[in-house]
Amino acid sequence: MVVNLAKVTKLNSHFMETPSSCAILAAGFFLLLHVSMAASNPTQDTFLQCLSNHSQYSSPPISAVTYFPNNSSYTSILQSYIRNLRFITPTTPKPLFIVTPTHVSHIQASIFCSKIHALQVRIRSGGHDYDGLSYVSQVPFIIVDMFSLRSISVKVEDESAWVESGATLGEVYYRVAEQSKIHGFPAGVCPTVGVGGHLSGGGYGNMMRKYGLSVDNILDAQIVDVDGRLLDRESMGEDLFWAIRGGGGASFGVIVSWKIKLVPVPEIVTVFRVERTLEQGATDIVHQWQYVADTIHEDLFIRAVVMQSNKKGHQTVKAKFVALFLGNAKNLHALMDESLPQLGLKHEDYIEMSWIESVLYWSNYPIGTSTDVLLERQPSSEKFLKKKSDYIQEPMSKSGLEELWKKMIELRKPVLTFNPYGGKMREISELETPFPHRAGNVYKIQYSVNWKEEGVEAADKNLDLIRRLYEFMTPYVSKSPRCSYLNYRDVDLGTNGNGNASYSEASVWGTKYFKGNFDRLVQVKTAVDPGNFFSYEQSIPSLTAWEGKMAG
Ligand SMILES: Cc1cc2nc3c(=O)[nH]c(=O)nc-3n(C[C@H](O)[C@H](O)[C@H](O)COP(=O)(O)OP(=O)(O)OC[C@H]3O[C@@H](n4cnc5c(N)ncnc54)[C@H](O)[C@@H]3O)c2cc1C
Ligand SMILES: *[C@@H]1O[C@H](CO)[C@@H](O)[C@H](O)[C@H]1NC(C)=O
Ligand SMILES: *[C@@H]1O[C@H](CO)[C@@H](O)[C@H](O)[C@H]1NC(C)=O
Ligand SMILES: *[C@@H]1O[C@H](CO)[C@@H](O)[C@H](O)[C@H]1NC(C)=O
Ligand SMILES: *[C@@H]1O[C@H](CO)[C@@H](O)[C@H](O)[C@H]1NC(C)=O
Repeated sequence: MVVNLAKVTKLNSHFMETPSSCAILAAGFFLLLHVSMAASNPTQDTFLQCLSNHSQYSSPPISAVTYFPNNSSYTSILQSYIRNLRFITPTTPKPLFIVTPTHVSHIQASIFCSKIHALQVRIRSGGHDYDGLSYVSQVPFIIVDMFSLRSISVKVEDESAWVESGATLGEVYYRVAEQSKIHGFPAGVCPTVGVGGHLSGGGYGNMMRKYGLSVDNILDAQIVDVDGRLLDRESMGEDLFWAIRGGGGASFGVIVSWKIKLVPVPEIVTVFRVERTLEQGATDIVHQWQYVADTIHEDLFIRAVVMQSNKKGHQTVKAKFVALFLGNAKNLHALMDESLPQLGLKHEDYIEMSWIESVLYWSNYPIGTSTDVLLERQPSSEKFLKKKSDYIQEPMSKSGLEELWKKMIELRKPVLTFNPYGGKMREISELETPFPHRAGNVYKIQYSVNWKEEGVEAADKNLDLIRRLYEFMTPYVSKSPRCSYLNYRDVDLGTNGNGNASYSEASVWGTKYFKGNFDRLVQVKTAVDPGNFFSYEQSIPSLTAWEGKMAG
C-alpha cells in the first residue's frame, strides 16, 4: 500500500495549480486510494496495533476513537466539520483514517505511528479553513480531529480560562458569560469557528481595536510536539510559544489547549446595523468611514460590508454598517454625530444589550434569541465558497470607490467586508507575534464569493469572479508584499506543493501572511521540527529538511 501511495504522491506533484487539473488528479488519487484501502486490511490492522501499543493506558482505548473507511461512521465524522462544500465531493481526497482523540495519549500515538508509516497528519479543530487544508491533501494523510477535546474552564477570579482546541468560539463566549457579565474574550464573530485554528492563526473580532487579536490575549498553551512530548509555555520556550500565536499551529505540533486572558466588558454595550445604497449617499459615507473607523475611540468598531444590489431592476451598490460599542447608546450617539454624521443614524438605530447578546446580534440572530444557540456546533447552512484578503493602507479616493462600485456591479456576486484597524492594533509591535499587520493599516478587506450550484463549471466561474476583483484592487492595496491574513487561508497565494518546499518557494506566500516574521517562523520550525513532519500545503518550511532533500 505504501508503494501505491508513493506513486500517487508523484502523480499529484502539481498540487492545486489550476482548479480543473486539481480535480482530475484528485479523482485519480481517490481511485487508487480506494483500491488500496480495499486490499489493505492488514495494513489497517498494523496501524491500529501501532496506535494501541502507543496509547495503552487510555480509556477509552484508541481503537474506539479511530475511524477507518470501512466504518459506517467514517463519512459522517469526516463531513461533520467540513465548512466549505467545495471539499465534500466524491473526488475530494479522503484521509486514510480519522483519530478523534479524547486523551492526549491518542494524539501522541497518532504522531508516533504516522511518523513511522510516513503519513502526513492534518489537524482539524473547527474545520473552518477556507481552503480545506485541515482535512484535504493530495498526499496520503490521516486526520487528527480535535472535536472531542473541547472542555472550557473559566476562572473569573484570575480573569482567565483554559480552553481546549476543539471548543468553538460560541462555546467560549457562552461559558465566559455564564460566569461573569463583565468579561468577554476578543475573537471572531462566527460562533462555530474552532478555537484550535482560530487562536493559532490570529483571531480578530469586533473588540480588536480595544484589546487586539485573540493571539494578543493568550497566557499559556499545551502542545504535543513532533517527539510526542506534551509541552506548556515554560517547557516549550518563548520561541515556540511566539510561533503558535499567529504562525498557524499545524506547522509546529498539535495544540491541545490554550489559557486565555479574559477582558473587561461593560454590562451594557450598544450595537447598530444600517444600510445605505449609492442613492442614499453610500460613496460619501464609505469614503468618510475610511478616515474615521480606524481613528475613532477604540471602544467602537464599525464594520462596513459592500455588495452589489438590485433595486426594482436598478443596479446599485449597498453598504451595510454594523457596529459594536463598549458603552451606552447616549455616548455612542454623541460619537457618531461628531465623527460620521453622514451615516444619518436615528435614535432608534442604537440598541443597548449585554455583551453576550451582542455576540448573537453580530451573528445575525434576531434580538431575543436564547444564548443557547451558541452551543450549536453546526452552522444552519453550508455553501461553496472562496475568500481572499487585502490590507488598505491609504484610504481610497471617491473616484477609486466609484470605479470599484462599477466593477462590483459588473461582477455582481463578490461581497467585500471592510474591518477597521487602529486603536490597540496600532500599539502592538509587528514583531510581538507572527501576525504582522499592525500600525499603518487602515482596514482589512475580505473578498467573499458563495454559490449553491455543484460542479467544476460553477466553481471555475465563481473563482474567476473573485480573482478578477482581487486583480482589480491591486493599485489600492498594500504592496511588496501584498499582504494577506493567514486565517483567511488562500492557496492562490502559493503552496509548498507536497513535500519539502524551499525557503524561497514558501516565502512567496509566507511573506504575504507574515512579512518579516516569516524568517523567525522558519528558524523556530527548523529548531523544533527539523525533519518537517508537521508539513502541509502552507506549512512553514524547515531549512534542515530542505537541505536534506537537496543532499538526498
Ligand atoms: C464562517 C466563518 C467565519 C469566520 N469568521 C472569522 C472572524 O470573525 N475572525 C477571524 O479572525 N477569522 C474568521 N474566520 C476564519 C477562521 O478564523 C479560520 O478559518 C480558522 O483557522 C478556523 O479555525 P478552525 O479550528 O475552525 O479551522 P480548522 O480548519 O480546523 O483549522 C485551520 C488551520 O489550523 C490548523 N489547526 C486546527 N486546529 C489545530 C490544533 N489543535 N493544533 C494545531 N493546528 C491546528 C489546521 O490544521 C489548519 O491549518 C471565519 C471562518 C469562517 C468559515
Ligand atoms: C475495519 O478495519 C479495521 C482495521 O483494519 C478493523 O479492525 C475493523 O474490524 C474493520 N471493521 C469492519 C466493520 O470491517
Ligand atoms: C504491538 O505490541 C505487541 C505486543 O507487545 C507486539 O507483538 C506487536 O508487534 C506490536 N505491534 C506494533 C505494530 O507495534
Ligand atoms: C466504528 O468505529 C468506532 C470507533 O472506533 C467503533 O466504536 C464502532 O464500533 C465502529 N463501527 C463499525 C461498524 O465498525
Ligand atoms: C522532507 O525531508 C526530510 C529530511 O530529508 C524527510 O525525512 C521527510 O520525509 C521529507 N518530507 C516530505 C514531505 O517530503
